[in-house]
Amino acid sequence: MLSSFLLPLVVAVGLAAPAAPQPKSEDIEACLACHGDKSMSVTLPSGETQSLYVDRAAFARSVHGGKLGCTDCHTDLTEVPHAAKPFQTRREFTIAYYEACKRCHFANYSKTLDSVHYPAIARGDRMAPVCVDCHGAHNISPPNQPRSKISQTCAVCHQGVSATYAKSVHGRALIEEKNADVPTCTDCHHAHDIGGPHAPGWRLKSPELCASCHANAGMMKKYGLSTNVMQTYLADFHGMTASLQRQQSAEGARVTALCIDCHGVHNITKVNAKNSSVIKANILKTCQRCHPGATENFSSAWLSHYEPTLKNAPMVYAVRIAYMILIPFMIGGLVLQILLHLWRVVVNR
Ligand code: HEC
Ligand code: HEC
Ligand code: HEC
Ligand code: HEC
Ligand code: HEC
Ligand code: HEC
Ligand code: HEC
Ligand code: HEC
Ligand code: HEC
Repeated sequence: MLSSFLLPLVVAVGLAAPAAPQPKSEDIEACLACHGDKSMSVTLPSGETQSLYVDRAAFARSVHGGKLGCTDCHTDLTEVPHAAKPFQTRREFTIAYYEACKRCHFANYSKTLDSVHYPAIARGDRMAPVCVDCHGAHNISPPNQPRSKISQTCAVCHQGVSATYAKSVHGRALIEEKNADVPTCTDCHHAHDIGGPHAPGWRLKSPELCASCHANAGMMKKYGLSTNVMQTYLADFHGMTASLQRQQSAEGARVTALCIDCHGVHNITKVNAKNSSVIKANILKTCQRCHPGATENFSSAWLSHYEPTLKNAPMVYAVRIAYMILIPFMIGGLVLQILLHLWRVVVNR
């Protein structure tokens, strides 16, 4: 009596409840029945030991925890016991399984085909990174939180560059002050379609990287930095040559001075720091790298990024002002003379 009264209610509740939540918990449990054992491992033909243990808690905390089951990635392993796979080394193992990521993250995967790392992967360089080298497999965490984690990811293989970067004006601001305005590795190189100095034209485009921030008035105001650096660079001989070469997509990427030739790249300092490559005491050495015969006068005659003003370069400023007055005056006079001449011709007919 009571049960026949409750039954419709139970059915109604059952229908209203959401479909079974995504993570296939039976699947996870079934796999972890064996793979939850810490001591589980195999010895590969290479002699390396491959642990087969999967940490349940780490997987649950990962970005995929509560979202994916084991067989979402291990689509080929639904039957137990599995057929042993013929992997010779741990690296073969990783290379075979990382392909699982592309099922759901195809956009990221296709970008990696354009990466500087890809030719190395394709020719079997064991050091070249695939998804799991940078992200992990069962313990994936958000890759950019905190932002300083990004350079640590690259640091695993690029120790020298990363250590230099950490001491630069940009790296210190990011790592010590948690400042998100400064660039980290992926702002300049990207994370998946990584570009580098050996890609055609890449180096020549680097001033645009710098300009994306250093020409941004809102951002630079916070640090009291001039945003004229880009404009003055482009108006300068070096900048003009760089733009010209870029238009012709010339390969001679080292023929003129780019921002990075004067300021450095991973080792950029404040311009007034003692070890700055552009501070007065060091600037001549910087110019001499390309102008071997340069003397003290050479570098001091150059106005760097200063807009000439009455204060910092009175002579140049005066000459410029004089030109600004003289040139329109002269052109105006010339036009007037031609007009008068024409008028004369017409009148004389
Ligand atoms: C009855 C125990 C058992 C269960 C349950 C089990 N496995 Fe395994 N698994 C093994 C053993 C043993 C190996 C080692 C096989 C070998 O190399 O001979 C292995 C190897 C693996 C490997 C790596 C090596 C390879 O051959 O590809 C993966 C990945 C794997 N299992 C995933 C899973 C997944 C996913 C599940 C759940 C669907 C699962 N396993 C369930 C026992 C188990
Ligand atoms: C997001 C995709 C993904 C999910 C989900 C996933 N795996 Fe894996 N698994 C991988 C990849 C990629 C590798 C190869 C990792 C490597 O070589 O470092 C791997 C390797 C393994 C291995 C070999 C040992 C090792 O750690 O390298 C076992 C065993 C395994 N997985 C079992 C499981 C089990 C059990 C689950 C569910 C709890 C699971 N996997 C969920 C992607 C996944
Ligand atoms: C079956 C589909 C599927 C597969 C296979 C898969 N993922 Fe995911 N991945 C997801 C989903 C769903 C999310 C969560 C997205 C969200 O929260 O917005 C996610 C999130 C991520 C994130 C975090 C993204 C962020 O914005 O913070 C990373 C990193 C990631 N996956 C890497 C991998 C890697 C590496 C592999 C291969 C080992 C892999 N995924 C395999 C579905 C998948
Ligand atoms: C060289 C290291 C590296 C490799 C290899 C790599 N990633 Fe990433 N990935 C990163 C970094 C670093 C970030 C964070 C980038 C940022 O925020 O600027 C990231 C971000 C992500 C994100 C979240 C943001 C987004 O773009 O959606 C996903 C998802 C992801 N990667 C998946 C993958 C997959 C799948 C592969 C393999 C096909 C892969 N990654 C290969 C380093 C790498
Ligand atoms: C697992 C190791 C590994 C990780 C992690 C890694 N790289 Fe690399 N990277 C390499 C290897 C190996 C090469 C050399 C490829 C070659 O010889 O062609 C390389 C080459 C490069 C180059 C080109 C260098 C040149 O001289 O042309 C750049 C740029 C680069 N990596 C940036 C990054 C960035 C940015 C990250 C982090 C998001 C990163 N790498 C993470 C291994 C790694
Ligand atoms: C402000 C932009 C910028 C940032 C930030 C940056 N790079 Fe670079 N990187 C460059 C430029 C430009 C070059 C080319 C330098 C040259 O050709 O003289 C380069 C060159 C490289 C090279 C190849 C040449 C070398 O010096 O070995 C690697 C590897 C590299 N970067 C990795 C990284 C890593 C890892 C990080 C993060 C720790 C990083 N870069 C941060 C702009 C940047
Ligand atoms: C993602 C934005 C961003 C990019 C890209 C960037 N910078 Fe910066 N840069 C900053 C910020 C923000 C500061 C101020 C940091 C501080 O003072 O804490 C700074 C500081 C500097 C300084 C020190 C100025 C001083 O004396 O205080 C120089 C020089 C510099 N950057 C040059 C460059 C060059 C050259 C490039 C290109 C290779 C570049 N930056 C790319 C954001 C950027
Ligand atoms: C030929 C060498 C040279 C080139 C090329 C160059 N700079 Fe400079 N830069 C200097 C010198 C020298 C200073 C020192 C301050 C001054 O005299 O204006 C400086 C100062 C700076 C400052 C500090 C400005 C301030 O307000 O204190 C920034 C930021 C900067 N440069 C960024 C860049 C960027 C971005 C580029 C490329 C678009 C670039 N520089 C190209 C030599 C150069
Ligand atoms: C990476 C190489 C490089 C560096 C560093 C460099 N220059 Fe140049 N510079 C050139 C080249 C190449 C030319 C000729 C083509 C052009 O106009 O860009 C040039 C042209 C010039 C000119 C035009 C007159 C002439 O001699 O042709 C002056 C002036 C000049 N540079 C000053 C400087 C000063 C000052 C510095 C140091 C702050 C400096 N340069 C650093 C490569 C460089």
